[in-house]
Amino acid sequence: MARASPIFLCSACGGETLKWQGQCPQCGDWNTLEQAAAAQRPRAPRVPLAPPRPLEVITAGRMERLASGQEELDRVMGGGIVPGSVTLLGGDPGIGKSTLLLQVAAHIAGTSGVLYASGEESVAQIALRAQRLGIEGTRVEVVAESGLEALVELASQRQGALLVVDSIQTIQSGSVGTSAGAVSQLRECTAELVRFAKSTATAVIVIGHVTKEGTLAGPRMLEHLVDTVLYFESEAGSRYRIVRATKNRFGAVNELGFFAMTESGLREVRNPSAIFLARAPEPAAGSIVMVTREGGRPLLIELQALVDRMRFGAPRRVAQGLDANRLAMLLAVMNRHAGLSLQEHDVFVNAVGGIQISETGWDLPVAMALASSLQDRALPNTVICFGEVGLTGEVRPVAYGEERLREAQKQGFQVAVVPRENAPRRPLEGLRVIAASRLAEALEAIFSLSR
Ligand SMILES: Nc1ncnc2c1ncn2[C@@H]1O[C@H](COP(=O)(O)OP(=O)(O)OP(=O)(O)O)[C@@H](O)[C@H]1O
Ligand SMILES: [Mg+2]
Ligand SMILES: [Zn+2]
Repeated sequence: MARASPIFLCSACGGETLKWQGQCPQCGDWNTLEQAAAAQRPRAPRVPLAPPRPLEVITAGRMERLASGQEELDRVMGGGIVPGSVTLLGGDPGIGKSTLLLQVAAHIAGTSGVLYASGEESVAQIALRAQRLGIEGTRVEVVAESGLEALVELASQRQGALLVVDSIQTIQSGSVGTSAGAVSQLRECTAELVRFAKSTATAVIVIGHVTKEGTLAGPRMLEHLVDTVLYFESEAGSRYRIVRATKNRFGAVNELGFFAMTESGLREVRNPSAIFLARAPEPAAGSIVMVTREGGRPLLIELQALVDRMRFGAPRRVAQGLDANRLAMLLAVMNRHAGLSLQEHDVFVNAVGGIQISETGWDLPVAMALASSLQDRALPNTVICFGEVGLTGEVRPVAYGEERLREAQKQGFQVAVVPRENAPRRPLEGLRVIAASRLAEALEAIFSLSR
């Protein structure tokens, strides 16, 4: 056998190069090329080439999605786990990845075969967790295995509905000469798991560690190889967890699933608005509730603003969970079109609960919270608000206005200040809607409420 000459793999994109260079020719990143023994893996496909078949025949044999037992997770995945799909679940250490997937495994094991393979923990450790979660009596098969070939062999024998791999960084293929976690290993192991899933219709969920920056550790190429990429996130110190899909071949992305970490595992949070709305009972200056639409559904979030006379230097503008550039723009519009100058003030705004609001509907409520803090006048805590503010001081409509209003109504709010175009066609019982088309008009309306 001819000696394999070395190749170089990029740790950022996973691309191959024949000789070492300072810059990866594929993605342009610097100092990312690592030497790897040329893969001895065969280039030809391992599975015999399947003959093409008409779509109608294939669709006739379509398989149902697997319910994970966690509706919040199913929603994020687009309505359940697709047989033969590969999902990558990333998240910080200790956030609850193994817990979530063991719970899912236990649920699915009620009706189908499930193999839970861990390269991180012993079977005794997994059993201990199962006990704590109250699922020790289920038929999940557990194995502590980090060899890829053995794992795939085992899973092929079992022909289960689900294979969980915890984690991809600990799995090692014998056909690659590097240690577990190296770029070449991650690439080969993921690719092999994809081949396994596609050829057996077993759904595979793979846990992946994340880097300090919060992205999946390993080449970006991993995200291209799999069907779905989920991130498990949480605010530091909070017991709430959010699952977010950043890629999904079988559903919408940026859906959110909400969970709470409890002694007995992760519990779904059916009414996420309640998490973000644990407000002080007394109205406070600088606080208002907005209805946003994150992750495919309306969500009530408290926004807080603090305006403080500037002490020295340039005024500070700090935005938590909101875009700082947009905040700067809003401050300019408030100054120009609503006569509220904050040029000599430090400005802090915060979306409570640690969520990132990526839509524009926070403009109007933040303007109100800022005005409320500036004037040190609390707004009634029965008010909700949403709306975009344009550069000419106009209040612009946002998507899903009615849905947002209905959520506010459901949560018992009594007054809504919204863009004129978002006013409902029919009145909503118990919710008075104030429609505004200018920022100044909206501010005037809300302050007249507390008069
Ligand atoms: N007795 C307990 N009561 C409540 N919560 C617990 C208990 N034991 C563990 N936990 C929670 O479970 C978390 C660990 O969960 P898990 O092991 O599933 O995380 P992980 O994401 O798989 O971590 P790793 O990256 O280390 O594999 C802990 O951080 C803690 O929040
Ligand atoms: Mg774990
Ligand atoms: Zn590269």
